[in-house]
Amino acid sequence: MTLVPKIDGERLLGRLDAFARIGSTPAGGVNRQAFSVEDRAARRLLAELALGRGFQVFQDGMANLFIRRWGLDAAQPPLLIGSHLDSQPTGGRFDGALGTLSAFEALEALEDARAQTLMSIEVVAWSNEEGSRFAPGVMGSMAFTGADISAWNSIIGSDGAPLSEEIEATIAALPEAKLRPIGMPISGYIELHIEQGPSLEKERTSIGVVTAVQGTRWLEVSIQGSAGHAGTTGLAYRRDPMVAAVAAMHSLQATIMPHDTSARLTVGRIAAKPGSINAIPQTVTFTVDLRHPRPERLDAMEAELRRVCAAEAKAQNCMATISLSFDMPGAAFSPEMIETIEEAARRLDLRHKQMISGAFHDALFLARVAPAAMIFVPCRDGLSHNESEFVEPADAICGARVLLEATVMLARSRLKTNL
Ligand code: GLV
Ligand code: MN
Ligand code: MN
Repeated sequence: MTLVPKIDGERLLGRLDAFARIGSTPAGGVNRQAFSVEDRAARRLLAELALGRGFQVFQDGMANLFIRRWGLDAAQPPLLIGSHLDSQPTGGRFDGALGTLSAFEALEALEDARAQTLMSIEVVAWSNEEGSRFAPGVMGSMAFTGADISAWNSIIGSDGAPLSEEIEATIAALPEAKLRPIGMPISGYIELHIEQGPSLEKERTSIGVVTAVQGTRWLEVSIQGSAGHAGTTGLAYRRDPMVAAVAAMHSLQATIMPHDTSARLTVGRIAAKPGSINAIPQTVTFTVDLRHPRPERLDAMEAELRRVCAAEAKAQNCMATISLSFDMPGAAFSPEMIETIEEAARRLDLRHKQMISGAFHDALFLARVAPAAMIFVPCRDGLSHNESEFVEPADAICGARVLLEATVMLARSRLKTNL
């Protein structure tokens, strides 16, 4: 008798709960930042579950974690399915974890059914997708797809920890995972993720078939003024970088997004130095996250940011220095993979729609080396990067079912690959 591989919804929901306890925060979210002890504990739990099922477990020099189930044709590169286990400092329990644990559930479903696939399938948990402790994000998938990572040696985390030491310690904490080189040929990649926006929930649609990811740029603006006494320095004598920073932010927020509904501008971190209550700051530094689906619009937004910051700094007799720390052009997913995911949703009779991802994901980099695509599921009120992030259990299970269906369709046949 042939068993049909089937997602075990209870098992998946139980796993989501178990992983949400690792780094859990009092407000119901998770703090499991990249390469932290909590991140290591989550990797360990996943590896132990995998070894318990007889799968092979590997890691590479970036601490990307891979779980392999062999296919009949060992010569074919594997199909990768997965996401990430690290979180924002006040992150939700589904961002990354849903995709990683659903991929593992799909692998277990195949194992439960003793199903044979032609291709080997590997579940992957990419390292440092979030980029909040160590910038930039998506480090694991960037390295896997051939980025030059030599400059990363000197990266220091937001908590002062050196990146290279933390990666080393993370790898050493899981000696059961065999070490292998970074990068390898793959046949394709599928990632399930929460939408992190409101459209699927609003439109009562279970499945988003992601066709592309918009571009992102991260910049750091540093405005230099002159430190001075808060009480004695009159207006005419002040060179206050905080005044310039506030004016620049106000002007940009009043124009960039209100003039273009596809544009995104976020100032997520700001610091004043020396940071004393009764001193005019010497320097104010803030980060800017810019996003747009069209590269020429991103160029225009960056140019506007540079112009406004320089002008507002000059108006206060200050100096603005602006550096681009991360430039991630958007990417379109493979039509063949998009069609496979749509077909999987159709077979399962699930309402679905095509959409663009506003968030960046590891799939963006995988799409550069292999056919890749993403499946989105709705999240409550579109909330993410927030401890209240919530996915209805039924939606989580539907997403995992589409992932399994698409995985089975792909792993049975050879994909065209550009590797
Ligand atoms: C990913 O976490 C993003 O910021 O888009
Ligand atoms: Mn994510
Ligand atoms: Mn995230």
